[in-house]
Amino acid sequence: MQNFTYHNPTKLIFGKGQVEQLKNEIPKFGNKVLMVYGGGSIKRNGLYDSIIGLLNGIGAEVFELSGVEPNPRLTTAHKGIEICKKENIDFILAVGGGSVIDCTKAIAAGAKYEGDVWDFISRKNVAKEALPFGTVLTLAATGSEMNAGSVITNWETQEKYGWGSTVTFPQFSILDPVNTYTVPLDQTIYGMVDMMSHVFEHYFHHVTNTPLQDRMCEAVLRTVMETAPKLLVDLENYEYRETILLNGTIALNGMLNMGYRGDWASHNIEHAVSAVYDIPHAGGLAILFPNWMKYTLDENVGRFKQLAERVFDVNSEGKSDRDVALEGIEKLREFWNSIGAPSRLADYEITAEKLELIAEKTVSFGEFGNFKKLGKEDALAILKASL
Ligand code: NZQ
Ligand code: ZN
Repeated sequence: MQNFTYHNPTKLIFGKGQVEQLKNEIPKFGNKVLMVYGGGSIKRNGLYDSIIGLLNGIGAEVFELSGVEPNPRLTTAHKGIEICKKENIDFILAVGGGSVIDCTKAIAAGAKYEGDVWDFISRKNVAKEALPFGTVLTLAATGSEMNAGSVITNWETQEKYGWGSTVTFPQFSILDPVNTYTVPLDQTIYGMVDMMSHVFEHYFHHVTNTPLQDRMCEAVLRTVMETAPKLLVDLENYEYRETILLNGTIALNGMLNMGYRGDWASHNIEHAVSAVYDIPHAGGLAILFPNWMKYTLDENVGRFKQLAERVFDVNSEGKSDRDVALEGIEKLREFWNSIGAPSRLADYEITAEKLELIAEKTVSFGEFGNFKKLGKEDALAILKASL
């Protein structure tokens, strides 16, 4: 392992009815609350009314920013920052999935900054201050509820980047599996692909002696794979939703990658794809990740073999390590196909036309990937294999 410091300041509040905790948590930060949410799912499932009722009950003065897009846009963050500055907001409450939370992180940091929040997102500056914010999560996927990361799209320039700083952790996150009952089938599938992909990003590294971390990663993967087929035919099952919700948080709250840095090249390529085509994040990952795996396999066949044996139950008897590793990657593809995830860029009608442009965007900040350093030509090869 490498030396590390682990500090995750987000209070995790988990379980049925826990939204009531807003009454205890919010008054700690003040009275003027900006509630941020998406395109209306929380109005349709009643969560909006419950939360407004709770906020009224504690006498909060509530402002609202609605319409945060999936793949949240800089222009929307700007609107939220304007409200915060104009109204002297004390606290921001994000109610939604990763997009709403990520947008809230940009608003929180932008509200305390004289310049344009794009400076943080485009890595010209690092956020040193942010308004406090909390979340009520409605979709199990990104882990944004318990990490400092945020991914924002500048649609005008077709750029989508991840950013974050020590001040962009939520103060608290409330996770009630019931609030995820109405997540539609496709988004439920994407969510599970995303959390598995986060584990894969961790898993491929060259640091030695990480047996506990390996087993924890494998446990998350196996648990998602065991639960997924049951959940997809029973979307309002509390226990399955509960299991998947916790998996999503654990997959990207820093616990699994203590003592090493993961790879993150596949996420970088996917962000470039969705910067140009605005496709669902995990749809892109399902297409790209197995192709990244094949492309980088020879960096450390042993790790791919371990994954194949321990997670995909590949029998290695009489086979070369490389063949075992490849069989594991095929089993991953089969699993994602079996739950209805996309497998080719063509599934989103993406052709070869803009692959050059996408590949160019993957190197906005230079070479990328920690397991294997990749450049534009590597990204292009992976994209072409994904057509
Ligand atoms: O906008 P509404 O109407 O709420 O509908 C949303 C949206 O259309 C809907 N939804 C959410 N909860 C629902 C629901 N519909 C019914 N019932 C519910 N309970 O689902 C759709 C997708 O929501 P979104 O928030 O976009 O999904 P997700 O949580 O997958 O977030 C995706 C974004 O997160 C970024 C991605 O790049 C993408 O922009 N990521 C953020 C990360 C982070 N901050 O750590 C890491 C990830 O790797 C990822 O890159
Ligand atoms: Zn992701």
